[in-house]
Amino acid sequence: MRLLAIESSCDETAVAIIEGAPGAPATLLASKVASQIELHRVYGGVVPELASRNHSLHLRPLVEQALADAHLSLREIDAFAATSGPGLASSLLIGATAAKALAATTRKPFLAINHLEGHLLSPFIDRSGVPPHVALIVSGGHTLLLDVEKPGSYRKLGTTRDDAAGEAFDKVGKMLGLPYPGGPEVEKAAVQGRPDAFDFPRSMMKDRSLDFSFSGLKTAVLYTLTDRNPVDGTPKEDDLPDLCASFQQAVIDVLIHKTLRAATTSNRRTIALSGGVSLNRSLRTAFARATDDAGIELTTADPALCTDNAAMIAFAGLLRHQNGECWPLDSDIDPAMPL
Ligand code: KG4
Ligand code: ZN
Repeated sequence: MRLLAIESSCDETAVAIIEGAPGAPATLLASKVASQIELHRVYGGVVPELASRNHSLHLRPLVEQALADAHLSLREIDAFAATSGPGLASSLLIGATAAKALAATTRKPFLAINHLEGHLLSPFIDRSGVPPHVALIVSGGHTLLLDVEKPGSYRKLGTTRDDAAGEAFDKVGKMLGLPYPGGPEVEKAAVQGRPDAFDFPRSMMKDRSLDFSFSGLKTAVLYTLTDRNPVDGTPKEDDLPDLCASFQQAVIDVLIHKTLRAATTSNRRTIALSGGVSLNRSLRTAFARATDDAGIELTTADPALCTDNAAMIAFAGLLRHQNGECWPLDSDIDPAMPL
């Protein structure tokens, strides 16, 4: 069974082809991503109309390249999947319409995949199964803690009450004058800094709920900036590494604390990390140490599959197809699709 998937929910256009059989690890035959980061950088964030125009420009060549990488023709694909939400409506429409057109012309099934399910399952692409676990999805749009019984059976344990973790990285990066997206830039600057240089708040740590809040932390960074440079609030050059390291540590501490608590309350012995922020090396190292101390297994997605990609959509599609699921060609996208 071979499935071709398209991801176009935000600013990355991606196509992947996966091959798999029930109970065996799936094989990724192709995974192509056309990043639009450079295009949106000058605006300091994603411009939806630019994103959708570029999806339509890149999609056809990417499908052709993916087929060439996999040494397959379109007729040898057994099903087509696309991200149908959550995401930017105009961006989702491009990928979903293309996948439906391919399914219609080849008379093969179409699968509408939730982007978050893609991230959630991404740590298990090369495994022969998905064990019950606690999942932490940390991306630019979401911070979600879930209890996963099996693929398709998800219980939400906690989410952010304001900014997503990646959004907080990006906004703090912007405040500090770093290029978009801020996450990787903050990580780079933090390497030379001391994580305990500034005592930033760890919001809702003592709270019984498993929800997160990052807006207080963001404001604390802003106040520290204006305190230390009342003229224009820009960071003094010497402060930048310490500010980044201290901010990053505050985010990491909260994510680890809540995720370990979620594993305890759900009685799970495996934690899976996914989403763009899970690329952060300090976060990975800290999670590895904390889970090791707690005797919990940690599963992380391959770095190439942490940020938006179609391989994760293909894998989610494969599991849904193996479960006998298929969507009608008139099914709509849903920019706010819940998991
Ligand atoms: O999963 P993703 O590609 O897109 C969404 O679905 O949102 O995640 C992108 C987010 C951005 O906010 C970006 O700044 C963040 O992931 N990110 C990082 C790192 N690399 C990407 N955050 C912290 N450290 C990183 N190394
Ligand atoms: Zn994503």
